[in-house]
Amino acid sequence: MTEIYPNEEQKTLFDAACEARKKAYTPYSHFKVGAALLTKDGRIYTGCNIENAAFSPTNCAERTAVFKAVSEGDTSFSAICIVGALEGRPLDFCGPCGVCRQVLREFCDPDTFLVLLGREDGRMRIYTLSELLPQGFGPSDLA
Ligand code: THU
Repeated sequence: MTEIYPNEEQKTLFDAACEARKKAYTPYSHFKVGAALLTKDGRIYTGCNIENAAFSPTNCAERTAVFKAVSEGDTSFSAICIVGALEGRPLDFCGPCGVCRQVLREFCDPDTFLVLLGREDGRMRIYTLSELLPQGFGPSDLA
């Protein structure tokens, strides 16, 4: 993990994640998350969390972004920025849930794919996917 102040590209991803977070549908938890997924060729797909009265169908912001990208034919990613907090509270570092880490593992190289967590004060924490999902199970295990 490294803690930094973002460069221009990282700030663009942070801004896109914040914008996406405004669309979060969270009538139950009121915890709003936004994600911005960067493709290797520079496109950005955003996502928000979408909750459900039956709870378990709830989709996290990260998976919304990944599924949007894959459904548009993009499967090569270099980074994702995530921002989250309870409604009305300042953004604090919000790590992806285990299910989202596994979904990222399907498409991303664990040693080079970067997970950026944004905070209200502008600081950012950067992890590789392998730091967040050590010894993960992936496509090569089935090859
Ligand atoms: N949530 C995300 O969208 N991403 C995360 O990484 C953590 C949790 C959502 C799911 C649910 O709508 C709310 O946050 C509270 O768990």
